[in-house]
Amino acid sequence: MTDLRAKVERVVREVIADLAASGALRPGPAPDTAAPRTPLVAANWKMHKSAAETRAFVAKLRLAEGVETVLCPPAVLLPVLAAALPPGSPVRLGAQNVHFEAQGAFTGEHSCAMLLDAGATYVVVGHSERRALFGETDHDVARKAAAALRAGLRPIVCVGERLAERESGATFRVLRAQLTAALTGLGAPAPDPAALVVAYEPVWAIGTGRNATAAQAQEALAFLRDRLAELFGHAWTRGMRLLYGGSATAKNAPELAAQPDVDGFLVGGASLDPEAFSAILAAAAARRPEVTR
Ligand code: PGA
Repeated sequence: MTDLRAKVERVVREVIADLAASGALRPGPAPDTAAPRTPLVAANWKMHKSAAETRAFVAKLRLAEGVETVLCPPAVLLPVLAAALPPGSPVRLGAQNVHFEAQGAFTGEHSCAMLLDAGATYVVVGHSERRALFGETDHDVARKAAAALRAGLRPIVCVGERLAERESGATFRVLRAQLTAALTGLGAPAPDPAALVVAYEPVWAIGTGRNATAAQAQEALAFLRDRLAELFGHAWTRGMRLLYGGSATAKNAPELAAQPDVDGFLVGGASLDPEAFSAILAAAAARRPEVTR
């Protein structure tokens, strides 16, 4: 028995040594778990706005202290937006989609390097419109998230259930499956927690004027944070921003932002209007760090 035990312990030690040598057990950057998460609010303009409208938006935008603001215009407007922002502006630019290959015969697509060149530091990945209208699969989403992180772009990975899935009680199964699939390509070590953002966007709430209630958003985001903790550990997950998206407005943002796992918003329709978007930034800024989980 003692022999067997010694043998097992030796094998375990060898396996651990192998994993350590392969890099699989290297911890990610140590997150500062004492620091409160900086709220993040991202505007997803989808296929809206001209160059002139982009400049007009910037002129009316009111930033909020302590909130990271990300604007995701159509890719061709990234340089217009970059030029319209005052020098040294804290506003970050993001793209709405990216191709996972570095270059090649992919008509109509943009690589991570091209988006970085155009001024983007974030990229939305796996938006439900990309999945539903352009046939993007979980596998595509995983490859895009991994390519973005490798290139130094921060992915905002979108997950969310359809109405029929919610009504049939499949919400958490869908969220778990989408999240796990999206992160499979990341490998070890875990990325910087600030560089990976997950947005819960119930499909039935996107562009419908029907937002998830604060309780529904909190329940889904707490579930996602717990799954992320299983993958990357609790300390890491406490440094990671989770967003709510789906008919977020100036009116519903304060209640949503008061939830412990809602670290900000991914905003579609309301992000087109600088007044409405600025009010959402203010709601995120009013979030008290002591409510965070
Ligand atoms: P919405 O869109 O705010 O118009 O519902 C959100 C999104 O698609 O990210």
